Amino acid sequence: MDQPRFDELSSSYEDLLKDPIRDRFTGNESMFFHRRKCDLVRDFFRRHKTDTAALRYLDVGCGRGELLGLLKDDFQHVAGCDVSSGMMRQVTGVETRIQHDPLAIPFSDASYDFITAVCVYHHVPLADRRELTRQIVRVLRPGGIFCMIEHNPANPITRLIVSRTPVDRDAILLPVREARVLASEAGLHTIASRFFLYFPQGLYRFLGPVESLMTQLPLGGQYAVFSQSPAVGSRS
Ligand SMILES: C[S@@+](CC[C@H](N)C(=O)[O-])C[C@H]1O[C@@H](n2cnc3c(N)ncnc32)[C@H](O)[C@@H]1O
Repeated sequence: MDQPRFDELSSSYEDLLKDPIRDRFTGNESMFFHRRKCDLVRDFFRRHKTDTAALRYLDVGCGRGELLGLLKDDFQHVAGCDVSSGMMRQVTGVETRIQHDPLAIPFSDASYDFITAVCVYHHVPLADRRELTRQIVRVLRPGGIFCMIEHNPANPITRLIVSRTPVDRDAILLPVREARVLASEAGLHTIASRFFLYFPQGLYRFLGPVESLMTQLPLGGQYAVFSQSPAVGSRS
């Protein structure tokens, strides 16, 4: 169901995201949101004293691959998959695979140390979200980390932008507690939640350090939930 829709939208994707509030927030810097996610991922691993250079990273629902491009030199190997070949058409320098079945990730069991799904789940029908998470856990190595990043429905500006963005016509937003429940039901243990995107690009340049003190305040424009797969020997 999602595949033709995102294929249809992919050629004019940037235009379809245009919104006066969103554009003010990013200061018309198209990579602003992706850079913030890249910083968030790097900060997570830094805090957990984990060197990512030997790790394998997969981005599920990678779209046009911006985050993969930003993080590719941080990891030993990076790859992406998406139900839409149109969205991935311009991804270069990174392995990508088409996900012909939205609920079957086209990579083998326990093959990645770190998996992200960024702004994907709100496009996944409610009844399919558990299975998608189970698939992600299947592809994660024991002890691996899953990071789900989503729009925060507790933020009224986020809700307003989503409500008038054509790309989000089918969106059903997930409150952060639902993201944690999905992770836990799939056997993951949530180890960190971070709320971010409080300040627009212009202010972020000065207020970035303030924002990093607000990560536990559940009002940021988006949130990230980092969960860990059980280590070897502790899987049921
Ligand atoms: C809003 S875009 C986000 C793309 C990218 N992650 C980003 O942050 O720019 C949502 C993406 O999720 C993909 N998608 C939707 N359902 C999916 C599923 N079940 N599995 C994998 N990708 C999916 C869509 O094709 C689309 O590229």
